Amino acid sequence: MKKKIITIDGWSACGKSTLAKQLAKKLGYVYIDSGAMYRAITLYFLRNHVDWTDNNEVEEALKSINIEFHFNFKSQQSEIFLNDENVEYLIRDLVIADKVSDVASIRAVREFAVAEQQKMGENKGIVMDGRDIGTTVFPDADIKIFMTADSCIRVERRFKELFDKNPNITIDEVKNNLEMRDYIDSNREVSPLRKAEDAVVLDNSNLSMQQQLDFALALVK
Ligand code: DC
Repeated sequence: MKKKIITIDGWSACGKSTLAKQLAKKLGYVYIDSGAMYRAITLYFLRNHVDWTDNNEVEEALKSINIEFHFNFKSQQSEIFLNDENVEYLIRDLVIADKVSDVASIRAVREFAVAEQQKMGENKGIVMDGRDIGTTVFPDADIKIFMTADSCIRVERRFKELFDKNPNITIDEVKNNLEMRDYIDSNREVSPLRKAEDAVVLDNSNLSMQQQLDFALALVK
């Protein structure tokens, strides 16, 4: 079968990466987590005290950032490297989640990330998830999925994930963070979160992982 570009966009914590990973594995495709790129840039900015309200500082900082994904055969996961450091675990922290939507709203940051993402898709055979993949990064993608899920279910899922790493986290912190990110992501000026006109909606509130995978595979075939 000819290799395709598959895009999965949608709200925070509605299971995009779970589906994207399953799909990539099943099809033998590369999986790229575009949100991880914005998170890694945020980590770099925080560590290096970059004032991201200052465009010059942002543009200078971006010149020092190199982002790559490497497949870890042990964990069977694609992991993100920021300037040769594996930051896959660090970028999932709530400290990063708190700031990432602000950083991802900056035009220069988006131009940098989108150019990298487009390079990664040059050979097709890729599943990429994010917020603007079907609208801006790959507007001609072969298959576009827009995921959504009930907001309470999303909060619960993300809480469980974060609680395993940090038992001090509260459900309110997670809820506030998701609401804030959904708001900023869908109201920003540059490539806001939108369903592409030709995207298929997948509401997985009441679907098992197998059911959502079957739904996506049916689209691919
Ligand atoms: O998918 P995620 O929750 O890891 O994404 C983190 C943030 O990055 C999200 O709040 C918005 C931003 N993002 C974006 O603006 N565009 C993308 N393609 C992916 C993520």
